[in-house]
Amino acid sequence: MSGLYPQNDDVQRVRDASDIVQVVGEHLTLKPKGREYVGLCPFHDDRNPSMSVVPAKQIFHCFVCGTGGDVLTFVQKYHSMDFREALEFLASRANIELTPFRGRSGGDDDGPRGVGNKEIIAANEMAAGFYRAVLSHPEHGEAARAVIERRGISDEMVERFMIGASPDRWDGLVMFAEKRGVRIEALLGAGLVKDRERGDGQYDALRNRLIFPICDQIGRVIAFGGRKIAEEDEPKYLNSPETAVFKKSTTLFGINHAARAIKRERTAVIVEGYTDVIACHQAGVEHVVGTLGTALTSGHATVLRRLCDTVVLLFDGDAAGIKAADRAIEVLLSETIDIRIAALAGFTDAKDPDELLKREGGAEIFLRVIEQSVDLIKWKFDRLREELKGAGPARVTQRIEEELNRLSELGLGELEPVRRRLMIRQIAQAARVEERVVTEAIRTGRGRRPIGASEGERRVRGEMNWKPDAREQLLGCLLYDAKLWTLMNGEQRELTSLERFNSTLSRSVAEGVHGSAENGTGTGLHAVLAELAQIGEERGEDMLDASQRATTLFQTVARDCEGIEERVTRLFNECIGSLSARDARNRMEAGVVDDSGESEAQKLARFLAGERESRSRTGVGGRPRISGE
Ligand code: GTP
Ligand code: MN
Repeated sequence: MSGLYPQNDDVQRVRDASDIVQVVGEHLTLKPKGREYVGLCPFHDDRNPSMSVVPAKQIFHCFVCGTGGDVLTFVQKYHSMDFREALEFLASRANIELTPFRGRSGGDDDGPRGVGNKEIIAANEMAAGFYRAVLSHPEHGEAARAVIERRGISDEMVERFMIGASPDRWDGLVMFAEKRGVRIEALLGAGLVKDRERGDGQYDALRNRLIFPICDQIGRVIAFGGRKIAEEDEPKYLNSPETAVFKKSTTLFGINHAARAIKRERTAVIVEGYTDVIACHQAGVEHVVGTLGTALTSGHATVLRRLCDTVVLLFDGDAAGIKAADRAIEVLLSETIDIRIAALAGFTDAKDPDELLKREGGAEIFLRVIEQSVDLIKWKFDRLREELKGAGPARVTQRIEEELNRLSELGLGELEPVRRRLMIRQIAQAARVEERVVTEAIRTGRGRRPIGASEGERRVRGEMNWKPDAREQLLGCLLYDAKLWTLMNGEQRELTSLERFNSTLSRSVAEGVHGSAENGTGTGLHAVLAELAQIGEERGEDMLDASQRATTLFQTVARDCEGIEERVTRLFNECIGSLSARDARNRMEAGVVDDSGESEAQKLARFLAGERESRSRTGVGGRPRISGE
């Protein structure tokens, strides 16, 4: 069990250096509540903060969806990383040097042919390095450098955004990757090269372009955007195709540099283009990101509402705003986030933020545009009234009613009560009608077509209704207080043997408990989480769900017993009592005779005797309920 996991010491050092409140707090907003912190759970569609982070225990746990674990689990879940990646991420965050990994050869989990997420990201990072080298190449980077110069992008921004250039030839990256020993499958998987249509071999997907690496929130390169350099080339922008690590609808350009400022300002500004994002950061306005040429999606909103509560959509002109507004309203009605609209037109004749910010006094105007952004609903009805200028009152009423019906179709009626009431008030004001009229429209409107519960929702509901049984509570006690295991005799330990659990997740937790008991680290939660991570590493399996179950069991016991040790011990004794009797009875009914030849009836008698004996040893916490006396 040991050889594959020589960095146990590393794991401990990384854990010690990674305070869970700080790490989670770097990803979402936490508020103190008693001895804990609470925040919106990023792992389900959370409306009220239901995730707690417990500094004293160094764990997080969501009581609604059941997600929980230690700091490594959090990072794994949040960034879809495997254990090793999460360890490396936290190590580099804490400036800890890890001993080189001596795990499974190659370290990739998808076999020789398949291309895993890690390999796609590695290929992207190799390519980013190549493009940067090309940009500084005297000859091949010349045209791209001229573009950068003309557009006034500073050296600092070139560095920060890792801007590069692809050479004007068909095989630059292909050759470079070959020299570096990067598999062609990885390049294909990342969408960096394409198969030739005739003949063998591959060619570069991005040629003669200014390259903008697209990063995730922690700065891993997940894709590229390439702007044409030669006037005659088409299209103007060429992006990487979607891959396992790149989904357009949830990706925001610049998020890695903007997240901190977005949290601080409690607002995210979304601009249209790559160059606009860069110009904003260059001007010192850092709570700015860009969508990748698409309208705002609920995927974007989900990412952003973990960081802030208001999104300002900034459009170059009114026309683009009008086009995007209806999509934005859908997002507004499906995600708990406020959306505001701003347009440059009317404030300046600059065609986009990039152009504006390069002008004298541009930053002030830019900030004023943001400040004077208008709530999406109000903006929508303002536009409507403008459009209806000069129309008769009947026409106006009809259009407003149509608009209200549309809002109800989009799900206004299905919002949670508090938000619905707020929204109705806002709509009434914006439409200049009485609230009653809006409520009426919702009532008579067709309402949102019923959508079947999604996989995630069903899982969430399943977890919500899930209650641990006595055997699982027993595991919870062992996780809570490791010394309880040392007080159990062999037969009592048998009560937690794997095959006696109905749930596969709890069975895995039991496996973790047995493993950590055997290797001497004890059955406490953190030891068991480490054991589960190790089991996962060895089998190349994802043990995250089991880690979460372990945390849920731990937290359930902690809450039920209010953290009072005596009550945990009492619960422990009660579980043992009822399980011993029940298991013995079941086995007797099934006529089980084991190799000892002892009859089940004899066994039951011995069980109860043994139990009484051990109880008198462990009976710290008041009188057990089931005693047989
Ligand atoms: P510059 O013209 O270089 O200032 O770029 P820009 O970012 O201002 O471009 P523009 O305003 O024309 O477009 C805004 C955004 O839409 C871009 O940043 C791209 O994300 C996207 N976009 C524009 N043209 C294309 C295209 O031809 N293909 C794709 N995929 N996206 C595009
Ligand atoms: Mn533009």
